[in-house]
Amino acid sequence: MISRETIEEILVRTDIQSLIGSYVSLKRAGSNLKGLCPFHSEKTPSFTVYPSSNSFYCFGCSAGGDQISFIMKMEHLDYPDAVEFLAKRAGITVEEHDSAQYTSRPKVDKKRLYEMNATAARYFHAQLFSDDPEAREALSYFTEKRKLSVATIKHFGLGYAPNSFDKFSKFMLSRGYSYDELVTGFLCGKSESGRYFDAFRNRVMFPIIDVSGNVIAFGGRVMDDSKPKYKNSSDTPVFKKTRNLFALNFARTACEESLILCEGYMDVIALHSAGITNAVATLGTAITAEQARLMSRYTKSVIISYDSDEAGQRAAARALRMLEEVGLTVSVLSVPGAKDPDEYIKTYGVNKFREVISGAKSKFEYNLSKVLGKYDINLPQDKINALHELENIISAVYSVAERDVYIQTVSKRLSVDASAIRADVDRIIARNAAAYKRGEAQQVRRDSVGYSDRVNPDFIKAPTVARNEENVLGLLLEFPEHRRSVFEGELLTEDDFFTELGKQLFLYLKSAYASGDEHLVTMSEVFSDEQMGRAARMRVGRMALTANGKEVLLDSIARLKNSMEKKAAESTDTIAALDALLQKKRNG
Ligand code: UTP
Ligand code: MN
Repeated sequence: MISRETIEEILVRTDIQSLIGSYVSLKRAGSNLKGLCPFHSEKTPSFTVYPSSNSFYCFGCSAGGDQISFIMKMEHLDYPDAVEFLAKRAGITVEEHDSAQYTSRPKVDKKRLYEMNATAARYFHAQLFSDDPEAREALSYFTEKRKLSVATIKHFGLGYAPNSFDKFSKFMLSRGYSYDELVTGFLCGKSESGRYFDAFRNRVMFPIIDVSGNVIAFGGRVMDDSKPKYKNSSDTPVFKKTRNLFALNFARTACEESLILCEGYMDVIALHSAGITNAVATLGTAITAEQARLMSRYTKSVIISYDSDEAGQRAAARALRMLEEVGLTVSVLSVPGAKDPDEYIKTYGVNKFREVISGAKSKFEYNLSKVLGKYDINLPQDKINALHELENIISAVYSVAERDVYIQTVSKRLSVDASAIRADVDRIIARNAAAYKRGEAQQVRRDSVGYSDRVNPDFIKAPTVARNEENVLGLLLEFPEHRRSVFEGELLTEDDFFTELGKQLFLYLKSAYASGDEHLVTMSEVFSDEQMGRAARMRVGRMALTANGKEVLLDSIARLKNSMEKKAAESTDTIAALDALLQKKRNG
């Protein structure tokens, strides 16, 4: 529970321009700033930051709000965590007090979980170097079998979880952690009969560390061929496996140019220890959109370096799509003659691997060799199929020149006349464009009948009133100095608003005014992402009106009331007309 004063201070000390600027590259556009929206993929900037009113809005995807809602969306945090995140960034210590005014969520002490994980990591690491015969085996697994140096083991903080059901937890209890906490952090399990046991036993341990240096989870590998090979922490209050990447804490400073994405912890460790420090891996799951977005925050291009087996190659194709979706340049690397990058480096040396990196295939080359691998182009039907697949791939390329290069390549590889391929490609493009236009027209139609206004479904029932509502609310949101006359003078009541969202926003503004909350610090807690976006849009149109804001506001209020009356009259008319109709029927 963080006091409103503290949140207010956080907002005041968080310059929205530099906050958003640390995620999005922003260019000046008049008094505002523009950039490529981090919340949807786009090629021309429609994401705008308004430093004067501490807000942002994307004209492409309607995301919008203040500093807190930006961080909630960007870092995938809930409201209290986003506030904490910003507090830390602003160097404000958040003293918690026990009023449940701003959040009712039971507070997990994350700091304590981080400390617990760090204690566990130190314990596992120390175990690895203990005199215990089993521990010695674990150490030699790393040094002999996996050829890791002690320096690398220390760098990654690798460890060993002893072969015991309670040795680890006894130690943690002696350090003051409870079984409840150990279970919450996925370090212990609890059997059906209620007995606690160490979650990781007789496994070599890989701590997972976030970009702030907190130990957030562990992966543990068996040292033989037993199953499961790896056991990973499940999600905990400090760990979401779909939102983190192994070794990003190290790679983040070396990945401006590119990141290398591997499948396995051991691949990453092998690469780093060979001096290639921009490698990361997912955490036992296929890559997620969140991880793709996370990568796009640190780098421009990703080199996928998955295992050579079929599963690895399928996963690579999927990763390629996911990464391109967030605007990354992607290439795919193959390690011929080895099952994975780790084995490749061990077998052929790091210099060979660097050669492979420089020859990493662009997306088109990658697709080309995939298609050609699938068909026997000496057979006419196969050749036709391959050609069709490639023509479809080429038709999706935006640049005409780039398309031409690919057409030439395919023409040579398949010995088909380039102009014939070009004609096919052009036909596919025309066909796709027509389909796109149809889709767009449908979207326009849907908009006009209001189906797609999920945020304010009432809008369409009375568009004129709703637009007037948005005018008034936008002005009230944008100009705190005019709230006083409206609320003290009781110029408006809830009943002046037609839509549910309008009413809610009005009531929120009113209660914020009553409690002296000028900065609307709790707004992003009360309203959803999409509602925040809509509210931001309402403000955007009103920003230019600083000079005569008061008059404009009074005028808008008058227009709102006016349109509400008309609407009311309309519906009485309808009812009157219906009554008359019924009367007629009865009489006739
Ligand atoms: P790999 O089987 O390729 O493992 O799985 P690896 O890291 O290359 O390990 P070595 O070389 O055999 O020692 C790739 C990744 O998939 C996850 C792990 O994150 C692993 O690093 N995985 C694999 C699991 O989570 N559980 C498993 O049982 C196996
Ligand atoms: Mn592997």
